[in-house]
Amino acid sequence: MPGLLLGDEAPNFEADTTQGRIRFHDFLGDSWGILFSHPRDFTPVCTTELGRAAKLAPEFSKRNVKMIALSIDSVQDHLAWCKDINAYNGEQPAEKLPFPIIADKNRELAVKLGMLDPDELDKDGMPLTARVVFVFGPDKKLKLSILYPATTGRNFDEILRVVDSLQLTAYKKVATPVDWKPGDSVMVVPTLPEEEAKKLFPKGIFTKELPSGKKYLRYTPQPE
Ligand code: BEZ
Repeated sequence: MPGLLLGDEAPNFEADTTQGRIRFHDFLGDSWGILFSHPRDFTPVCTTELGRAAKLAPEFSKRNVKMIALSIDSVQDHLAWCKDINAYNGEQPAEKLPFPIIADKNRELAVKLGMLDPDELDKDGMPLTARVVFVFGPDKKLKLSILYPATTGRNFDEILRVVDSLQLTAYKKVATPVDWKPGDSVMVVPTLPEEEAKKLFPKGIFTKELPSGKKYLRYTPQPE
């Protein structure tokens, strides 16, 4: 079955992009990576999304995350569309964005990665790419996937927020609760015994009393 599941290794595909031909593993190197697809070039929601992604590129870079986009259009179309995206952002209408866009005219990668939306068809009745986000860790394994239909634009602040959570929880034995933002308290993972947790989190642990009497709701300040 095509598509990627959490924990799968990123396929090491070759592709043409707006910044030349790439091999995906070489592109990622030792960095984190975000691969995000959009339905089509020269469409309104996609233009707002890629504009926002371009503005947030320094934030992703600060977090050591390499960005790469994909849609089922040609490099030539991508380059022409980049001018519109930059103009939408109030910049000079240049062909360059701070990240490459993969050209997948034959839909080969979109099929392999499970990105096609059967409900959203082009004028020839062929499916368009949905709004997929894959976040890969430095081990090239899939850490997060998000799938939105063509008609709903993503929230790139939320994507940055999940990157912050993924990076924090990859290195510390914590989990981030509902609506967590960087700097908020985090939860001690339920599998960590109390004595070990006390040693690991010297800033202290607050355990909320619950009717069950079970001591699983354990907060600690965000570790450094
Ligand atoms: C858009 O990006 O605006 C869009 C693309 C395909 C279907 C619907 C909206």
